Amino acid sequence: MTVGLDDRQRAMLAEMGVRIWWPAQTSPPQEAPATIAEAGPNSPETIKKIAKKDPVALGIGRKSLISAPADAPPAPAAPMGPDVGVVNGLDWPELETAVAACRACGLCERRRQTVFGVGDRQADWMVIGEAPGEQEDLRGEPFVGPAGQLLDNMLRAVGLSRTAGPADAPSAGGVAPPLSPAGVYIANVLKCRPPGNRNPQPDEMAHCAPYLRRQIALVQPRLILAMGRFAVQFLLDSTEPIGRLRGQVHRYEGIPVVVTYHPAYLLRNLPDKAKAWADLRLALKTLREASGGRMAGQAARSVS
Ligand code: URA
Repeated sequence: MTVGLDDRQRAMLAEMGVRIWWPAQTSPPQEAPATIAEAGPNSPETIKKIAKKDPVALGIGRKSLISAPADAPPAPAAPMGPDVGVVNGLDWPELETAVAACRACGLCERRRQTVFGVGDRQADWMVIGEAPGEQEDLRGEPFVGPAGQLLDNMLRAVGLSRTAGPADAPSAGGVAPPLSPAGVYIANVLKCRPPGNRNPQPDEMAHCAPYLRRQIALVQPRLILAMGRFAVQFLLDSTEPIGRLRGQVHRYEGIPVVVTYHPAYLLRNLPDKAKAWADLRLALKTLREASGGRMAGQAARSVS
C-alpha cells in the first residue's frame, strides 16, 4: 500500500524507479479532520471524510466536490446510486451532507438545493411525501408550499407539529408542558425537485431510496403516514390505488404504515378531506394501541 509510506520509503521507491500513484479523488494523508459535528455538515472536511468511505460508489465522490476550487462548475450527474452499505453507516450529519452533495441522478442538474427532511428526529410519527416542489426547492424544507400548509393544518388537528420536539418544545426542567404538540419528522421519497413537478421516475426513486431508508432507520418511528402513491410505492412496494390501501394498517420493516391521500390531491378534491381525517384518526389509534395507551403531547388527547 502506498498511502502509509514515509519519506525514506518514498525515496527508496523513487530510487528503484517505482512511481507512487495517488488515486485521482484523494490527496495524500493529512492531519485527521475535526469530527463532523465540529467541522459542520457541509464543510470540506466533512465532505472529504464521507467521500473517503467510498466516494464513487456513494455517488458524491466527484472530483469537483472534493478537490476542485469552489468556483468550478458542478460535476455532471454520476450514473449510479449511492452505495447502500455506506449510507447505512452514516449518522445524521453525515447523511445530510451526503444528500446535499449527491449527484446520483439527473435531478441534481436543475435543483437549487436538496430537501433533506425536517422535524423531530426522535418523533413517534414520520410523514413521508413524494418530492420537493418549487417552494421546497427554494427553501430547502419539505412541504412548505400550499400542500404543506394543508399538511400542517392536518397535523395540528391531531395535536402534532413539525416544529415540536425535544429541541424546540418549551420545557420546564426538561418536562414538556402537558398540551404541547408532539413532534413529527417529515421527509420525501426524492430529495431533489423533479422539473416542472413531474412524477418521480423509477431510476430516481431507486437512487434516492437509500437516503430515506436511512432516515427511517435513524428516526425509528412508531408509525409512518404514507402520503400519496409514491410514498406507498416506496414503503409498500405497491402500485395499488390509495383508495384500496387506506383504512388498514400496513407494515414497513415491522413499522405500522397508514396510507392516505397526498395533500396536493386533497387541495384538488376537497370532499376526500373527510377520508384523510379518518386516516389520521386510524394512525392515532394505531399508535396509541402500539404504545399501550401512552402517547406524547396533545396528540394523546386527539382520539376519542
Ligand atoms: N409534495 C411533496 O410530496 N413533498 C413536498 O415536500 C412538497 C410537496
